[in-house]
Amino acid sequence: MFAHQPPPASITSNIVSADAEAPLPGSALNELARFSLQRQRELLPIFRHRKSLLYLVETKPVTIVVGHTGSGKTTQLPQYLHEAGWTQDGKIIACTQPRRVAATTVATRVAEEVGCTLGQEVGYSIRFEDVTSDKTRIKYMTDGMLLREALVDPLLTRYRVIMLDEAHERTVYTDILLGVLKKIRKRRKDLRLVISSATLDAEEFKAYFEKDKNAAEEEVSGIISLEGKMFPVDVMYLEEPTENYVEKAIETVFEITARERSGDILLFLTGRDEIERTAELIAERATNLPPNREQLLVLPLYAGLPTDRQLAVFEPTPEGVRKVIVSTNIAEASVTIDGIAFVIDCGFVKLRAYNPLTGMESLTVASISKASAAQRAGRAGRTKPGKCFRLYTQAAYDTLAPTSVPEIQRSDLAPVILQLKALGIDNVARFDFMTPPPAEMMVRALELLYSLGTLDDYGKLTQPLGLQMAEFPVEPMMARILLSSNDFGCGEQILTIAAMTSVQNVFVTPEGEKKVAESAKRKFTVEEGDHMTLLNVYHSYTSQPRERAVKWCHQHFLNHKALIKAVSIRAQLRRYMERFNIPIRSASPETAVHDIRRCLVSGYFAHAARMQPDGTYKMIKGGETLWAHPTSVMFNRKADWIVFYEIVETDKKIFIRDITKIEKEWLAELAPHYYEVKGKKTLEYM
Ligand code: CDP
Ligand code: MG
Repeated sequence: MFAHQPPPASITSNIVSADAEAPLPGSALNELARFSLQRQRELLPIFRHRKSLLYLVETKPVTIVVGHTGSGKTTQLPQYLHEAGWTQDGKIIACTQPRRVAATTVATRVAEEVGCTLGQEVGYSIRFEDVTSDKTRIKYMTDGMLLREALVDPLLTRYRVIMLDEAHERTVYTDILLGVLKKIRKRRKDLRLVISSATLDAEEFKAYFEKDKNAAEEEVSGIISLEGKMFPVDVMYLEEPTENYVEKAIETVFEITARERSGDILLFLTGRDEIERTAELIAERATNLPPNREQLLVLPLYAGLPTDRQLAVFEPTPEGVRKVIVSTNIAEASVTIDGIAFVIDCGFVKLRAYNPLTGMESLTVASISKASAAQRAGRAGRTKPGKCFRLYTQAAYDTLAPTSVPEIQRSDLAPVILQLKALGIDNVARFDFMTPPPAEMMVRALELLYSLGTLDDYGKLTQPLGLQMAEFPVEPMMARILLSSNDFGCGEQILTIAAMTSVQNVFVTPEGEKKVAESAKRKFTVEEGDHMTLLNVYHSYTSQPRERAVKWCHQHFLNHKALIKAVSIRAQLRRYMERFNIPIRSASPETAVHDIRRCLVSGYFAHAARMQPDGTYKMIKGGETLWAHPTSVMFNRKADWIVFYEIVETDKKIFIRDITKIEKEWLAELAPHYYEVKGKKTLEYM
């Protein structure tokens, strides 16, 4: 099925190390598990670079570190800096992560290595979850959180060293931080920056920092390459393209099981649903394996997976068992799983994409880049020689782009522009972007912010509304809804809705119990839509006596952890409202359903649509056809006009979720600057 091809030279250099040192003998590897954590640290490739790393950080304002995934950048570098005294004066080392999961799991690991309780010397901070204390010296955080901190502390004075980790992912917030930190650095000579990247784009980062340094300055940055100990990876391509990569992937798993030596399998697919489905299929087929043969342990991995199931992926594989991890792109670089010897790469990834025409952001499936393909293959060669099965042909590989487009060129920029404005960067078009976003997308974002009342006619942040919206840790439309809730007299209810839409997976649908779960959900369903339904769920939950909560959730197919989180998020959002002096009133029962929905329209008006005779929705602006997502209570229900919050995915259709029924008149009344009523019947987007 697979044609064996030696990897092209360009990939080889990426996955096979030029490191001349002989690989560790197998027996030593087996011993590894028994070594103390300290010994494990010393065995990481980064260890022998410790001195040169510290020297570079000491002598250069910006250090660029390149090393294969698993070489120890994320877990070790902050510890080296801490041990070397960079935190002695009470200052902090920050290490940013593009993903929440990475921030929490890495912090947990490093706390273990340091030998402290999580939240003491080592902590993490992600949105709505701050596990740090006065003692914290090493802080893992999402890139978005660090940018947020700059709002209150523009020079980020609490930090002595800031490490932008996984910079090669080029997330929107990493890109913005690069620009912001470049500015801060010029005003804070004591600050040190570390840019760490798994791929070989170091020169690009260097050029960015050297570009317009002060004339008097010598070189600003230095590059260090860790050349992690990597073993050769054989790359195999399909001889014929496949119509169905999921099927091919499953076949390949069983071929590996039948033919290849032991070693865990990592399968890259695109999204959660696909992963759960495929994992089930593999597990099902694996029950037919002869009992004397090695058994398969199939584990899904994606962001949003409950923590205990995420951690299962990192557990050592039991004797006589082969792990099959079915993962999103998350395993490509940000999390490292030991023991992988085989990688199966479907060649696709789910990416955020932004359509400036409709102003909608969605997740779409796209081909990966060559850099990604190399990175994925490299996951098989971390501890011993490995194999990578690409579910596409060599010809298809040749057509892939060398690297992927930075997120900033394909995302909704409204939240980012809001943050920049709040940081006092008024002329966002002239911001020092490493890769500037297309002008069209900037314009769309500015328009939306203007229509939300965030910006005035001169493009300046309005006071206090715009500034408060920037501070609120929710996206701009929801911030606006919270801030106008007093006008509709329903602050209490809106706080609940904002909290409930910030958590994922409130409803649980266990396999095989779909029918029961659905009828349990129907008990909470409110005809006006998802937001009112979520409000109903929260209200019922908090009315239960505390000691019965777990059982009650279980009986009603609700996710107890998600609800606990919603309670905590609600309390945090409430504190913002109090600080902004916004009265929080409770809607009167007679008018609640009416008032709350009108309040939602005050922020979601740009996401308005009308139902078509065939049951789909047509977006008012742009005219896009939308489908109610099967998890929405509006799925298979009639409505006329609606607003919605989220776009789920667009493989073939555009699905929307978190939908609320509205009256058409509210749009013209509450967003007159956005909608204009033409004649009697049509509502048009200006
Ligand atoms: O950042 P980089 O990819 O260079 O490596 P790292 O994340 O610092 O990982 C170094 C090693 O720490 C890996 O080889 C893992 O074995 C281990 N690790 C772990 O056991 N648990 C984690 N949550 C993270 C890393
Ligand atoms: Mg890392």
